[in-house]
Amino acid sequence: MPQFRIAPSILSADFACLGEEVRRVAQAGADWLHFDVMDNHYVPNLTFGAMVCRALAPHAVLPDGAPMPIDVHLMVQPVDVLAQAFAQAGAALISFHPEASAHPHRSVQAIRAAGCKAGLAFNPATPLDVLDWLIDEIDLILIMSVNPGFGGQAFIDSALRKIEQARRRIDASGRDIRLEVDGGIKAANIRRVADAGADTFVAGSAIFGQPDYANVIADMRAELEKK
Ligand code: DX5
Ligand code: ZN
Repeated sequence: MPQFRIAPSILSADFACLGEEVRRVAQAGADWLHFDVMDNHYVPNLTFGAMVCRALAPHAVLPDGAPMPIDVHLMVQPVDVLAQAFAQAGAALISFHPEASAHPHRSVQAIRAAGCKAGLAFNPATPLDVLDWLIDEIDLILIMSVNPGFGGQAFIDSALRKIEQARRRIDASGRDIRLEVDGGIKAANIRRVADAGADTFVAGSAIFGQPDYANVIADMRAELEKK
């Protein structure tokens, strides 16, 4: 069984007390902190930048005292300058949308040279073709199951087929690549998404919309463990 990861997106957290929200979710059984960066250009919304990431990093501490990996999802264009800023602000993983970079191969190289793991993010209507040329260079594939820009949208079912395709590509590569799914994930559908081949699950509104984050995360894990 793959080792599943749950990555709460602070896009749906209470922005008036982000430090406390990060501490709460880090203590609630989550694995990674998903950090949605939007620029009101590549996507029609604006969130937070590297300074906010740097400020929150000390709050992202797992129950055993280890740092909680910060999983930065760049929905920005261009990519490279901000990717470097996030690498310096404490990101562990940085994903970007290949169509937002003039030179995606160079962007991947630069992220890895800065000491971070590199991921490629695919919108619902974006094919996986670029993986023909980049799968040997990356650490993570992020499949969008909603159109990027907002939390709280409904899961788009065609993402399941894309997850299956991505899983086949990862297995054929023989490389250690995480397969992350982002958008509309909740306890009620997480199992179906895992069965398609995903091993890492972003959840924003499903977690931050509830009073007890640990309960939601435990429900998700229980679904993942069902035979
Ligand atoms: C959408 C973001 C997602 C979003 C997911 O652009 O990339 O990470 O926060 O939110 P939910 O889980 O509410 O669909
Ligand atoms: Zn995201």
